[in-house]
Amino acid sequence: DWTMENFIELEVEKIREQVGDQKVLCALSGGVDSSVVAALIHRAIGDQLTCIFVDHGLLRKDEADTVMDTFSEGFNMNVIKVDAQERFMSKLRGVSDPEQKRKIIGNEFIYVFDEQADELKDIDYLAQGTLYTDIIESGTETAQTIKSHHNVGGLPEDMQFKLIEPLNALFKDEVRALGTELGVPDHIVWRQPFPGPGLAIRVLGEITDEKLTIVRESDAILREEVKNAGLERDIWQYFTVLPDIRSVGVMGDARTYDYTVGIRAVTSIDGMTSDWARIPYDVLELISTRIVNEVDHVNRIVYDVTSKPPSTIEWE
Ligand code: XMP
Repeated sequence: DWTMENFIELEVEKIREQVGDQKVLCALSGGVDSSVVAALIHRAIGDQLTCIFVDHGLLRKDEADTVMDTFSEGFNMNVIKVDAQERFMSKLRGVSDPEQKRKIIGNEFIYVFDEQADELKDIDYLAQGTLYTDIIESGTETAQTIKSHHNVGGLPEDMQFKLIEPLNALFKDEVRALGTELGVPDHIVWRQPFPGPGLAIRVLGEITDEKLTIVRESDAILREEVKNAGLERDIWQYFTVLPDIRSVGVMGDARTYDYTVGIRAVTSIDGMTSDWARIPYDVLELISTRIVNEVDHVNRIVYDVTSKPPSTIEWE
């Protein structure tokens, strides 16, 4: 009969048989799918697996360290961390169009990954966290064209790897159960979705270091308070955005002219449609007060009360 333990045993056998003594590469993003695939393949072949984790400078607060702690330290995996912040920032300077940002980040990711793979040389296989639903969706390709969804891990077809996709018969909830069984910590297994282009599409318009800091710090406060309120699993996705708006405020006796931060929090089944989350007012108040007090250059907080459609979950 089907149990997660049996599934792991069978898959481990299959992977070992397929790979033999060859080497496997995996693009680790810290998301649920790539994390679970890395953990499964590591269980099967250990050091024959190398992961590449690209820090494009658009990650959330402490995210890169958390991923490295979990996999490099915790699992003792070979993880190559690429510090590519400067590279991505220089390509994004002066760019304000959302689709342009996505394209630049998607392409740059591939260049960075490609270079790293080249340096490793004797790699035969590429592991990907493709799920059953990814296959169905890409088969029909309909609503997704509203925004081009460049997932980190979407790699060019001319790469000379054979693919391993051990999750391609699983649904998301099964992937989470598998991750837990493999010892992947809850903060990754239950992580909210985070887009490949990261904070770049949450700073509306042109990206600057200052704006990235505002969105990163405010997002960290929001996440902390959602967690403290015990709402983490009730809300599909929650984050802050920085629209390109400044408005007048008052601090002490002084007039301020600073940024507005938007809070976006939605409930959803699959991200295709969503409703705005009814976060209790007292929690919103706490989040608002903390962001204004703790994040420089913010004097106003707004809460997004639109559903999808007509809005999208992200603001860009
Ligand atoms: P939207 O904003 O289209 O988002 O309602 C639906 C879900 O997709 C995520 N999203 C992205 N994921 N690359 C990604 O990997 C992207 O460019 C991208 N844009 C949106 C979004 O966070 C939500 O979970």
